[in-house]
Amino acid sequence: MAEGTGTDKGKTILVTGGCGFIGSNFIHYMLARYPQYRIINLDILSYCGNLDNLCEVADRPTVTFVKGDIADRETVRRILGKGVDAIVNFAAESHVDRSIEDPNLFLRTNVLGTQVLLDEAREAAVSRFVQISTDEVYGSLGASGVFTEDTPLKPNSPYAASKAAADLMVRAYIETYGIDAVITRCSNNYGRYQFPEKLIPLMISNALEDRELPVYGDGLNVRDWIYVEDHCQAIDAILHRGVKGEIYNIGGASERTNLDVVKAILHTLGKPETLIRFVKDRLGHDRRYAMDFSKLKNELGWEPNVTFEQGIQQTIAWYVEHRPWWERIKSGEYLEYYERMYGNR
Ligand SMILES: NC(=O)c1ccc[n+]([C@@H]2O[C@H](COP(=O)([O-])OP(=O)(O)OC[C@H]3O[C@@H](n4cnc5c(N)ncnc54)[C@H](O)[C@@H]3O)[C@@H](O)[C@H]2O)c1
Repeated sequence: MAEGTGTDKGKTILVTGGCGFIGSNFIHYMLARYPQYRIINLDILSYCGNLDNLCEVADRPTVTFVKGDIADRETVRRILGKGVDAIVNFAAESHVDRSIEDPNLFLRTNVLGTQVLLDEAREAAVSRFVQISTDEVYGSLGASGVFTEDTPLKPNSPYAASKAAADLMVRAYIETYGIDAVITRCSNNYGRYQFPEKLIPLMISNALEDRELPVYGDGLNVRDWIYVEDHCQAIDAILHRGVKGEIYNIGGASERTNLDVVKAILHTLGKPETLIRFVKDRLGHDRRYAMDFSKLKNELGWEPNVTFEQGIQQTIAWYVEHRPWWERIKSGEYLEYYERMYGNR
């Protein structure tokens, strides 16, 4: 899908899961980068979907919010019937721990929801479908090696398996029906608006509250951290210039152990390492992820701009300045608020 120029009316992009962490960052990014585009945000407002993430842009005439489910065919059809140029599918159940407790919802949203979007995109002849996937579909690495786009899929958690299944469904729709779709597989993101059940915002907010910082196992699991704005730029490049049917790995070139990350947070906030508490390891906890994103770099000219040291400082500063944002979530007031505002979710 070519970029809209400043003179045309712009494209209409359906962003699913736009009230979540990466989706909301992507909407902010797109509105700034392509002011002539229209964005339709379809989000069910699950426990981690938060309209506060978009309050600064909610009044823009180019942004429309639809509260709804990607697995609800009628809703998706109604939206696509208005004319949509591209779909960027962020909507998902995304927390590994929750998938271990109860995989059911992960299959419904991540697999069946994606399949409904694919069906309806095909029906409406949407010209580009971007499936936002994850490095977790590749499984776990030892001390060396990297994931390439050709690495076999070996998902270890129900979350990762549901994302891998969705990727395979996207592939099947490309091969069978010829739909124009691409798949992105990104490493661990961090930045503003991340729900405080995930490692970095949990540790920052706990440290700010002088609570213990629970670290799984020995804390030596390695993730390749990417600043969320870099991820948004990569999706922009792939949305507009990615080649139909291709998979693109996205990485941050910033491998860190969980313990390194936690210590960096404590150090920046001037809090003692005695707040760290090692807890029983997560079941099936992947040891190491590392991304080879040379395909994206060589073919589309993207690479991350923000180092981990810069990104973590900016992220910590945001959580310090936006304490009410995460305090409301952690206190549970936030959920009550949405039930009041939007009824049963
Ligand atoms: N966070 C990461 O580090 C990371 C890394 C790689 C890939 N991803 C992928 O990026 C996407 C977004 O991740 P995130 O961290 O922003 O997740 P998130 O949990 O913060 O947001 C998910 C959003 O999807 C919405 N949603 C859930 N079910 C829905 C449904 N049935 N219909 C419509 N909306 C629904 C939620 O309300 C929420 O707003 C996911 O697909 C995830 O697999 C995340």
